[in-house]
Amino acid sequence: MTSGAEAVDAAIKIARKWAFFVKGIRDGSAHILTATACYHGVTLSTVSMASKKAEHFSTYLPNVGSTAPSGTVVRYGEIDDLRKAFTEDGPRIAAFMIEPIQGSAGIVVPPAGYIKEVAELCKEHNVLFIADEIQTGFGRTGTNLCHQHDGVKADLVVLGKALSGGLYPMSGVMGPSRVMDIISPFEIGTTMANNPPGCAAALAALDVLVDEKLADRADRLGKLLLERLRSYDLPYVVEFSGRGLFLAMVIEAKPPKVTGRRIAALLAQRGVLVSSNTAGTRIRICPPLTISEEDLMRGADVVAAVFAEIEDVGDIPGEAVEDGFVTSRT
Ligand SMILES: Cc1ncc(COP(=O)(O)O)c(C=O)c1O
Repeated sequence: MTSGAEAVDAAIKIARKWAFFVKGIRDGSAHILTATACYHGVTLSTVSMASKKAEHFSTYLPNVGSTAPSGTVVRYGEIDDLRKAFTEDGPRIAAFMIEPIQGSAGIVVPPAGYIKEVAELCKEHNVLFIADEIQTGFGRTGTNLCHQHDGVKADLVVLGKALSGGLYPMSGVMGPSRVMDIISPFEIGTTMANNPPGCAAALAALDVLVDEKLADRADRLGKLLLERLRSYDLPYVVEFSGRGLFLAMVIEAKPPKVTGRRIAALLAQRGVLVSSNTAGTRIRICPPLTISEEDLMRGADVVAAVFAEIEDVGDIPGEAVEDGFVTSRT
């Protein structure tokens, strides 16, 4: 496929067909369970899976999302929620889809051992374990795929972004033939899917990932970056979160001057690209895995300078998101 959301959509289709033929769930009643605060894209199926839905898009896709059929809400990182959902509704649940570390939520790492327990519970209840590795895959967190940190294997893995070095639209779903063979090639695909330049870019990116040991690099550089950032004793930062080169600074925002967006905007002015979550409390740092150690440390120094100055700086272009159309009409 070409976008991450399309690949997630394909994973849902595979899981539903698997649920019908293998698990014997009646057509139209299989549920695809997700976790709160997840992000899997913005197509109709993927936005429907989010706990916080965007409005104005009419009816959503049924039988998907972080609320199980009997009403249990599955909070990210809370294994007891998942256990309860499976106990109540296991026979109706086709798959549990999860980001091994939640990216768009602000690089939220689940408690140690959580992903392993997820895999075990899925197995116990004959539910497919789908790892959405679109953001965490390809070495980003220090292993080729993030859920490998927990020594488990997902039944389906959804890939995108870095699959083609982030340069060419390319995404996909992979899994063992016992699951993948359920779908026919004609049930998934678009005109531009699996196009030759995209496949060539993906093969080249995979070679670089392996040849240049990018996962090890992310692990090593991530530790160095964290050490450097901690050494500044940055004001407003209450916690660091993440793994490898997938890190977040959790800040105690003090609006109007100290907000994630203002910090991100000032950093952008100075050549360091980070992003803030909508609440402005988590600032995500995801440098390229090929960044030089020197550039990484230089970037960290810029972060320290920005934190020191943020309260004294005036208006910064890009510090606020204008949502004019929606607000002016409501
Ligand atoms: C975990 C996750 N899943 C799915 C997507 C959607 O990918 P795309 O924007 O390519 O549709 C994203 C994008 O950020 C993502 O982070």
